[in-house]
Amino acid sequence: MKDQRTLQSVLVTGGAGFIGSNFIRYLFARPDFTGRIINLDKLTYAGNPKSLTDIEQSYGPNRYLLSRTDICDTDAVTALMKREHVDSIVHLAAESHVDRSILGPKEFIQTNVVGTFSLLEAARAAWAGADGVIFHHVSTDEVFGSLGQEGYFREETPYDPRSPYSASKASSDHLVRAYHHTYGLPVTISNCSNNYGPYQFPEKLIPLMILNMLEGKPLPVYGKGENVRDWLYVEDHAAAIWSILKSAAPGATYTVGGENEWKNIDLVHALCGIVAEQTGTPVDQYLRLIRFVTDRPGHDQRYAIDCSKIKQELSWSRGMSFEAGLSATVSWYLANLEWIDSVRSGEYRSWIDANYAGRSH
Ligand code: NAD
Ligand code: TYD
Repeated sequence: MKDQRTLQSVLVTGGAGFIGSNFIRYLFARPDFTGRIINLDKLTYAGNPKSLTDIEQSYGPNRYLLSRTDICDTDAVTALMKREHVDSIVHLAAESHVDRSILGPKEFIQTNVVGTFSLLEAARAAWAGADGVIFHHVSTDEVFGSLGQEGYFREETPYDPRSPYSASKASSDHLVRAYHHTYGLPVTISNCSNNYGPYQFPEKLIPLMILNMLEGKPLPVYGKGENVRDWLYVEDHAAAIWSILKSAAPGATYTVGGENEWKNIDLVHALCGIVAEQTGTPVDQYLRLIRFVTDRPGHDQRYAIDCSKIKQELSWSRGMSFEAGLSATVSWYLANLEWIDSVRSGEYRSWIDANYAGRSH
């Protein structure tokens, strides 16, 4: 086992989003974490403080603070880092949905590229030569492009991003590495496959399908549903991030995945079965909602990850089976309809109305 960093003041950007809120919950549940978490989030449509109400009640204000801040505001982030004696950053804040990046790429460049640059500048200013600090950048396997039937993405795979989202994440990865090589900023990067689990915004495949089933709405499957994704339970991703933050060497990159490839159409069928079982509804009632709709432009065919490096070097491995993880996810959405109502109101609703009116699903 490598040397472990002692981290007492962790800045999580995008902590009110899907992975961020799960990461914060995961960290507070660890007996070996005794520090403080500063959740820096702009609270866009995807960020919801309600995802962390229990954390706020249990740990705020001594060990948990939410700061509504834009990562693009370098001065505000620098001041916050100094005031809170931040010794580690987990950078998750981003625009994260591929379909939105196709409809409007500008925000993706602003937050994912300019925002990451701004955060790197803040870290450089606040840390200026400090020891024992670490900047972990959370990225995606989508930077590597699209696979055919064979092969896997690994740490050395050349970058080949193909959507505005993945291109903006690739740019941010390059900036993070450049700050390590040029300024000696201690950074690590992870490129992870598709996450699923509680608190995921219901525009992504799995929660969208679950909620549409409950509401009797069509289940839109892009193209023929033959595209393949590798799915990882969000808590397993949180564990991977923590193991990197604690012990990875500065400059290191890890690819992270669930070794769990599914064709979209097979996954939708499996979800229909689980929702049917948990709601006591005949499965045909859900299966008949499936609609094959116009494909996403530039839709990447297949993602798959070789994660042997993180398994060998950091002893990380996937904990949750897909069967148990999907079942837990469906149960969570069924039990949290109030959370869903709150994230679907306001800005989210107007965006749907503006962009999906007339789209044939
Ligand atoms: P999300 O969309 O659920 O959450 C993003 C969070 O970032 C939100 O809370 C939002 O308010 C915040 N944010 C957006 N712009 C901001 C800004 N300018 N300043 C401060 N906060 C801002 O995203 P997610 O699915 O939790 O993904 C988190 C990170 O993990 C992203 O960087 C994404 O690229 C990466 N990632 C996601 C997946 C996945 O399957 N979801 C897989 C691999 C990597
Ligand atoms: P998504 O959850 O948007 O993640 P990503 O595009 O980052 O992989 O989509 C997962 C897969 O599901 C992807 O191949 C696109 C497909 N998809 C559908 O078929 N229908 C949908 O309504 C959505 C949102 C996605």
